[in-house]
Amino acid sequence: MRRPIVAANWKMHLGRVDQALALVRRIRLPLGRVEGVDVVLCPPFTVLASLAEVIGSKGVALGAQNMHWDDHGAQTGEISPSMLVGLCRYVIIGHSERRASGGSAESDGAVNRKVISALTHGLTPIICVGEDAARNEAGETDVFVGGQVRAALDGLSADDVGRVVLAYEPIWAIGTGRSATPAAANRTIALAVRGTIALGFGEAVAGAVRVQYGGSVNAQNIAGFMAMPEIDGALVGGASLQPEFVDLVTRAVAAR
Ligand code: PGA
Repeated sequence: MRRPIVAANWKMHLGRVDQALALVRRIRLPLGRVEGVDVVLCPPFTVLASLAEVIGSKGVALGAQNMHWDDHGAQTGEISPSMLVGLCRYVIIGHSERRASGGSAESDGAVNRKVISALTHGLTPIICVGEDAARNEAGETDVFVGGQVRAALDGLSADDVGRVVLAYEPIWAIGTGRSATPAAANRTIALAVRGTIALGFGEAVAGAVRVQYGGSVNAQNIAGFMAMPEIDGALVGGASLQPEFVDLVTRAVAAR
C-alpha cells in the first residue's frame, strides 16, 4: 500500500518570512493532525530556514523547488544539495516552468543529474513530467512522458527508483483551472509512468513508486484524483497558498 503524499508548490509566492509564517502558523497544527498522508511544503529558498525552525521534525515536511546537481563551485545564484540537507527532506526537480526556460540547465540530462545528486544526499526528489497541449492533442502524451521518465531515472538502481516521487503534471493543466480528468491522469500514470518504470526496473518497483497528479488541483476536485488506483497524491500550486489547503489534504485522505 503506497502512502499518499500531497505537496504544496508555492512557486514564487510567500517568499518573505512574514508572509510564509503567516500561512504556516495557521496550517501547521491542523495539517499535522491529518493522519495517513505525507504533507510537504515547498516554499521559496528564502524562507526554508525560517520554516524549518517553526515546523520542527514532526508532521509536515519541507521541500525545495529546485537545486543544482553540484555540491559547491562557481555557480552564481545556485543552491546545492548539501545546502538543503538539514533544511528540508524533499526537492522538486524538473518542474515544467523551469524546463520551459531553463535550457541545458533543465534538460532531461540535467534533471537526471539532479535526481542522482538528490538521492546521494539523502533528499527525496519529486520529479515532474508532463506533456504540453500540442503533444496532448497529437496523441503523443505516452511517448513523451515515458521518455521523460526514462531519462530522469537513467542509471538509477531499482532501490533508488523506489525512493523517488514522480509528479505527472500536464503543462496545459497547470495554473489554468482546467485539470486533466482523473481517468485520463490515471491512465497516463499507469501506462507512461508506471509502465516505463516496469520496463526498466521491474513490476514490483513500478508498483511501489509514489506518483502524484498535478495541474489545477483544489479542495473540490482532489477526491476524484485520490479515488484513482494509480494516483497517490497531488502536487498543488495555487490552491496551496491559502489555509484551505488543509481541507484539500483532509479530503485527499478521506477519498483514499
Ligand atoms: P497549479 O500548479 O496547482 O496552480 O495548477 C501545479 C504545479 O505547477 O505544480
